[in-house]
Amino acid sequence: MSLEVRLCGVRLRNPTVLAAGVLGTSPHILKRVYDAGAGAVTTKSIGPREREGHPNPVVVEFECGLLNAVGLPSPPLEESVENLRRAVKLVKGSVIASIYGETAADFRHVASLVSEAEPAMVELNISCPNVEGRIPALNPAESAKIVGAVRDVVKQPLIVKLSPTDTFTIKEVARAVVDAGADVIAAVNTMPAMVIDVDFGRPVLSNRRGGMSGAALRPIAVRCVYDIYEEVADANVPIIGIGGVSSGRDALEMMMAGASAVGVGTAVLKGLDVFKRILAEMEEFLEKRCLSLAEVVGMAHGR
Ligand SMILES: Cc1cc2nc3c(=O)[nH]c(=O)nc-3n(C[C@H](O)[C@H](O)[C@H](O)COP(=O)(O)O)c2cc1C
Repeated sequence: MSLEVRLCGVRLRNPTVLAAGVLGTSPHILKRVYDAGAGAVTTKSIGPREREGHPNPVVVEFECGLLNAVGLPSPPLEESVENLRRAVKLVKGSVIASIYGETAADFRHVASLVSEAEPAMVELNISCPNVEGRIPALNPAESAKIVGAVRDVVKQPLIVKLSPTDTFTIKEVARAVVDAGADVIAAVNTMPAMVIDVDFGRPVLSNRRGGMSGAALRPIAVRCVYDIYEEVADANVPIIGIGGVSSGRDALEMMMAGASAVGVGTAVLKGLDVFKRILAEMEEFLEKRCLSLAEVVGMAHGR
């Protein structure tokens, strides 16, 4: 059975996508993930200038997920772009370049260099909760301004990654970025959260606050994807559903909410075989019910 999907003309051999950042930027790691079965791989977000990121500890596991406050550590921009160029050559499938910036001008500068490295798509990370300042994705006008600033310098389909932090404004933000030129929406990034070490009476992460991912994020992400689908389905804007996906049933749930492809992040940390397992489980489910992948997308919206 074919699990191939197309996102704005870009062919993915299957709907699973390595989510941004979880495994870093090394071209060899991205190749290993693609070879392990992912339909596409996303780089760690590439920023406008060198950044140290936060001191350790930057990751903590809890019962049903992970908190991270890596703080977007970045090498100099030229080095990141060179890494991206190598990844595009090495990976025999679609590489998505994720980028971030502090201002719309930053995003434009990074986007123009990254686009020249010929990734299959460019993803705007306007939703990271772990850097100083605001999350642009919480504000429709600010989000639209960033999309507008990069649109004419990006030759590829443009993905905009949204935040689950305010589920009540996510429809407005989705509409605003689509009107400003987004081709695809990715939802969601991590959710601001905290874990306190009760023995020490202090937050575990050096940054105190972190972004939550993994199983606990899944129902929130499903709701976000469901809402975004209601808002943008008419405009034919595909959604990449991300948040807590670790099985075929999780992936199908995300697609029934409206996603055309599914990002996998935290689950990858338990082993790269997750992609093959998700795909085998999806295939078994679809075959048993005589359904095609396309029929599943948005299925939960039926009355
Ligand atoms: C350690 C770590 C680093 C991440 N780095 C990035 C990043 O650089 N850019 C980005 O857009 N999202 C980043 N994310 C968020 C993931 O791409 C994803 O949106 C989120 O983890 C939810 O998916 P999951 O529950 O499958 O992990 C990171 C997540 C983790 C756990």
